[in-house]
Amino acid sequence: MCGIVGYVGFREASEVILDGLKRLEYRGYDSAGIAVKVNGHLEVVKKAGKLQVLADSLKEHNLSGQFGVGHTRWATHGAPTDPNAHPHTTEKGDIVVIHNGIIENYLPLKEGLIARGHTFTSETDSEVLAHLIEEKYRGDLVEAVRLALAEAYGAYALVVAHQDHEEIVVARTVSPLVIGLGEGENFVASDVPALLPYTRRVIFLHDGDMAVVTREGVKVTDLAGNPVEREVVTVEWSLEAAEKGGHPHYMLKEIYEQPRVLENTLGGRLHEEEAGVELGLKLDPTHYDKVHIVACGTAYYAAWVGKYLLEALARVPVEIDVASEYRYRDPVVDDKTLAICISQSGETIDTLEAIREAKRKGAGTLGVINAKGSSITREVDDTLYIHAGPEIGVASTKAYIAMLAAMAMLAVWMGRARGSLDEKTAREFLGEMRKLPRLVEEALELRPQVAHIAEKYHQAQDYLFLGRHIQAPTAYEGALKLKEISYIHAEAYPAGEMKHGPIALIDERLPVVVLATQSPFYEKTVSNIQEVRARGGRVIAVATEGDTEVKKFAQDVIYVPQTHHLLAPVVSVVPLQLLAYETAVFLGRDVDQPRNLAKSVTVE
Ligand code: G6P
Repeated sequence: MCGIVGYVGFREASEVILDGLKRLEYRGYDSAGIAVKVNGHLEVVKKAGKLQVLADSLKEHNLSGQFGVGHTRWATHGAPTDPNAHPHTTEKGDIVVIHNGIIENYLPLKEGLIARGHTFTSETDSEVLAHLIEEKYRGDLVEAVRLALAEAYGAYALVVAHQDHEEIVVARTVSPLVIGLGEGENFVASDVPALLPYTRRVIFLHDGDMAVVTREGVKVTDLAGNPVEREVVTVEWSLEAAEKGGHPHYMLKEIYEQPRVLENTLGGRLHEEEAGVELGLKLDPTHYDKVHIVACGTAYYAAWVGKYLLEALARVPVEIDVASEYRYRDPVVDDKTLAICISQSGETIDTLEAIREAKRKGAGTLGVINAKGSSITREVDDTLYIHAGPEIGVASTKAYIAMLAAMAMLAVWMGRARGSLDEKTAREFLGEMRKLPRLVEEALELRPQVAHIAEKYHQAQDYLFLGRHIQAPTAYEGALKLKEISYIHAEAYPAGEMKHGPIALIDERLPVVVLATQSPFYEKTVSNIQEVRARGGRVIAVATEGDTEVKKFAQDVIYVPQTHHLLAPVVSVVPLQLLAYETAVFLGRDVDQPRNLAKSVTVE
């Protein structure tokens, strides 16, 4: 978590840094800070609160200089206060340190430093690095950082500057760091969007890498100082793709991008004539007799949908876990296990550790990932990119839809290879998949109706979401979206399980969203709707166009386009995303930066 930007070149460093941090605010927004070299000294300004608080405060400072570093924080150790904001420095003030991650042995290090006369001004784990580096410094900053990191362990993307050297010394283990290459200028950032206005040529640092970034160039080494070769990658994301494109919020922009995203995810991969998909994967799908899928948050619900798809089309047993549970439950894994992890960022630490656990136990590993070059992609045997483009809104939308499409393709890939999916069925299913971008486009037209429903229920204290079979995860994702951005308590349940508890909650104040699209289980879901109605609950049904039954029992019916029942989650989630969005806007919430959340969770 946390966003980092560093700059050395010929532009005003504070402008480049603030602009970059703005694009990284999705990584945390508890506090922000900057250090720029002005008249030979590193001047630090840092403020609790969002980046704008820092930007306002900078108007009162002259931070004119061409060399600097900045940070936007998601608090782990220490409350979001001014002193706990980064950059951290020491009494002397000649060194500044910015850190993303957790230094696990910071307490013993801190005690030792205090005993040796250091005075601490923050409660953070990060500050120990500033003192440790100061202690090791004998005129060579790179050497001092290397010596300090020999004593500190944990997760870090570390950025260090010294007033006497116009170089940014960086190091990473676990937390991401990318270097942007320019002409007469170079950049450091946690993620690519911060670099896009200036360069598309980047180096993704690997775990255990250090680098020295100057105006003239970049030198990458390992932590012992041995040179290492890292590929220069040209990223294809346009700056426009990473900005709002005229929408009031990134989340809305990303919801509207979904038809295009699906075209990208599916593009060139569906081959109806051969009744298969071309995913460019090296793994042999016939080798495995079971599948484990791990993920967190929204990606976990994509895993759940993936389970139904894989079991239906590939007839392979699938277990799914939230990654933070999987990594500690000592799962039964062997070399016949295909472990799949799903992640938008490719950086979520629990997901990374879960897939490492499966790999250690001999599984074949596959990442279903959005961010190119991210940590997970470097650890797994194979990656299926979902091609959703940069997702900035903290509440995930377009990445989710792309994950669902990717899981459907994986199910066809495995099903065809294992012989469980015949040519005719595969062709029909692929034909249905090809229609998805158009169907999602149609589903977006539901926005005015959904906005009306959002208004009607925006004062509800609680919401219940119900869905059955492959639409159970859709119910959970709908509830998660609503919770995340409107702060209304929302609970989701498999529809058939409702009578075992949540039915006690139902009264005339409780809006109940029921996924009642056409499927072999449709009648059962309609029975559940009647159970809700009989107890006075307010039913908002999501049903298939042409359904005349449901409206007899529901106050509101949202009609989504018809598709194969195994693909229904792709179209049905759209009105639920819009419901969360419109409710949050109604309540005046900060849609793109909901409280307490961060987009990329790189701490346990
Ligand atoms: C955080 C985000 C969620 C996201 C989850 C997993 O909780 O707020 O939106 O679904 O992390 O992130 P990943 O990048 O692994 O998909």
